[in-house]
Amino acid sequence: MATRAVSVGEKGSFTDSYQQYVNPQWVALLNLLDMNVHYQRCSGAELFTADGRRILDFLSGYCVHNTGHNHPYIVQALKGELDKSGPAMLQSHVPEIAGELAERLCKLAGGGLQKVYFGSSGSEGVEAAIKFARATTGRTGIVYARGSFHGLTAGALSLMNDAFWREGFGPLLQNTEGIEFGDLLGLERVLETRRYAALVLEPIQAEAGIRVPSNEYLQKAQEYCRRTGTLLVIDEVQTGMYRTGTFLASHQFGLQPDIVILAKALSGGLMPVSATLMTEKVYRSVYSSLRRAIVHTSTFSENSLSMRAGLAALDVLESERLGERAMALGESFRAKLREELAPFEMIKEIRGMGLLCGIEFRAPNKLSLRVPFEAFHRVHPAMFGQVVVMRMFREKNILTQICGNHFLVLKAAPPLVVSERQLDEFVSAIRGVVKLAHTSATFWSEALGLARRAVNL
Ligand SMILES: Cc1ncc(COP(=O)(O)O)c(C=O)c1O
Repeated sequence: MATRAVSVGEKGSFTDSYQQYVNPQWVALLNLLDMNVHYQRCSGAELFTADGRRILDFLSGYCVHNTGHNHPYIVQALKGELDKSGPAMLQSHVPEIAGELAERLCKLAGGGLQKVYFGSSGSEGVEAAIKFARATTGRTGIVYARGSFHGLTAGALSLMNDAFWREGFGPLLQNTEGIEFGDLLGLERVLETRRYAALVLEPIQAEAGIRVPSNEYLQKAQEYCRRTGTLLVIDEVQTGMYRTGTFLASHQFGLQPDIVILAKALSGGLMPVSATLMTEKVYRSVYSSLRRAIVHTSTFSENSLSMRAGLAALDVLESERLGERAMALGESFRAKLREELAPFEMIKEIRGMGLLCGIEFRAPNKLSLRVPFEAFHRVHPAMFGQVVVMRMFREKNILTQICGNHFLVLKAAPPLVVSERQLDEFVSAIRGVVKLAHTSATFWSEALGLARRAVNL
């Protein structure tokens, strides 16, 4: 089916206002990729456009929509909260609903996590973790894994080595040290200096290419942290909230972190919220006296709508057993992908955990494929992946993306309510696009057209 980009100035559309007053570059990029469609209604794993398309969401807003789009239970819970006309953001009362959500989160997370700081975004959660780790240890440095994505505020950005995100924004935090993900020797050497307040890790690196580490790596990392008095901070912004099958991915690796950051899916897909879970020791180091009762806070922290969204999201995740579903469906989904994509030389690996999956591509050996592949890689390293994304969207009606820090890995992370039939639809769609890349010149001429249009913008 042909797509129709929402044109600038179209009647009833505020695309031109967005273009003028918000971010024209973003509109141009979506237009370039043929992905600027007008979504009218979103439900479960499906997105419906004004011109009658039904698109399957395999991105989930980067793991926001674990409970599916506009889950009726969560929508109802939010309406109910508004109808109460209760206290919100008075900044001078005890928001009991925050207590209710914090208790549930701590019980689900387990280990030593006993207190929660609420914020409005994953980055804000990471900022809190940096400050809290410094306050607890009296040290300033932070160690992180290279390739990670922790958010784009100045502190969080200091824990990301990729030059693309940092360029033009420095100097960032001093004393941060990036170690290769999986490099235990390097990690031990750095932590042994005992100069670092925390090691901040994603348990599975999402934007780095859905990199699933060995149990041994994370266990040893935890052991080194304990031995050297370094806090272990686990960023579960994408992996948490049952995305990988368990409430936290940390649970599958047997970790007991000092701080855990949750965000994205805690929102029920509707309200901005993050939660920084911490041990009693961390809490006491920060909020150490009456004078310091609100030494770290934020205006929208603990607001009733976000708290209600979090509670409702947990209700849905638990009552619909979405973790078990993610675990079972994820396994069979990856098995089908492996089987269907096995004949294609450009497929390097299918990996993941639960419904956080990645399909890694590689340069082909066959000369007729290798030449165009490398030419496009030279134009832009993301070019090949973007053509796959574009074709999946335009011809197969499936929304997905390549990883932000690894352009040869395509993500498949649908809402956890996705059906088996919808997963099969993805498998057959990606098989079709991959086959085209291996057999048809039009795939490569399309990429050339994209490159030309990008240069002309
Ligand atoms: C692992 C991880 N941590 C932190 C963040 C930052 O979250 P936010 O965009 O809500 O600030 C992201 C965002 O994608 C993320 O993927």
